[in-house]
Amino acid sequence: MDGAPPAARPAGLSAYVAASQALGLALLGAAGAWLGRYRGGVAWHGPLQLNAHPLCMLLGMVFLQGDALLVYRVFRREAKRSTKTLHALLHGLALAVALVGVVAVFEVHGAKGIPHMYSLHSWCGMAAFVLYLLQWLLGCGFFLLPSASSSLRRQYKPHHVFFGVALFALSIAVCLLGITEMLLFNIRDSYSRFVPEGVLANTLGVLLVAFGLVVGYVLTRDDWKRPPLAEELALSMDFKTLTEGESPSGGSQ
Ligand code: HEM
Repeated sequence: MDGAPPAARPAGLSAYVAASQALGLALLGAAGAWLGRYRGGVAWHGPLQLNAHPLCMLLGMVFLQGDALLVYRVFRREAKRSTKTLHALLHGLALAVALVGVVAVFEVHGAKGIPHMYSLHSWCGMAAFVLYLLQWLLGCGFFLLPSASSSLRRQYKPHHVFFGVALFALSIAVCLLGITEMLLFNIRDSYSRFVPEGVLANTLGVLLVAFGLVVGYVLTRDDWKRPPLAEELALSMDFKTLTEGESPSGGSQ
């Protein structure tokens, strides 16, 4: 297999990636419809600023985070360095959009004198956001800065992979808590009567779960992982032979 051209895109991968994008766009559309039709729309100043929070969090912590996770499965033939950079850039964009969403809700709470950080949603949400920021900083430090040694990268990689998937799942759970909380604030008395707003917001929740499941499936299919390119294998072989006098196991960081 050494020196062979990388395998073609595995059967089924494109369909799953397309399904994930359709679900991601559908969940953003459902959120827009909910906030636009039933919550008066989105604005930065005034009472509608609170609505900027869910929109930014869904776009940043779910859609963009999910797409950043899929980068290695989608771009299979590009140089590892370019793929890593795109992965980091998409996560960075997700964090920036999420930061706008967090600032929006803190400003609204501050202006209205509502206590901060009292709900389960806010505790888990803050944990998800801070850990996601930490994960991004550590990822950039270990994998993009040339100063990190390859043995350090190898040791850190399983932690990065586990926490990447775990934080994505936590972000979706936090959004589900946020949706339920917002429904209870706004339609507590009519929710149980299957009012259209409740049905639409529940549909958004189901789309979130579906997006998470499809992205999770793509990420956990071992045979859909990006195979190392021929030149990466050769480099890894040279390096291992030079440093340890043994042959490489295949993967590259
Ligand atoms: C991963 C995504 C999310 C994160 C990290 C997050 C984080 C937070 C945080 C930290 C607060 C507390 C702000 C404060 O105490 O001043 C908050 C409040 C709030 N969030 Fe989210 N949120 C997320 C998604 C959502 C979504 C999708 C919705 C609704 C559809 C939502 C609805 C709310 C509401 C109504 C509040 C005000 C009540 C409260 O403090 O619990 N959030 N969020």
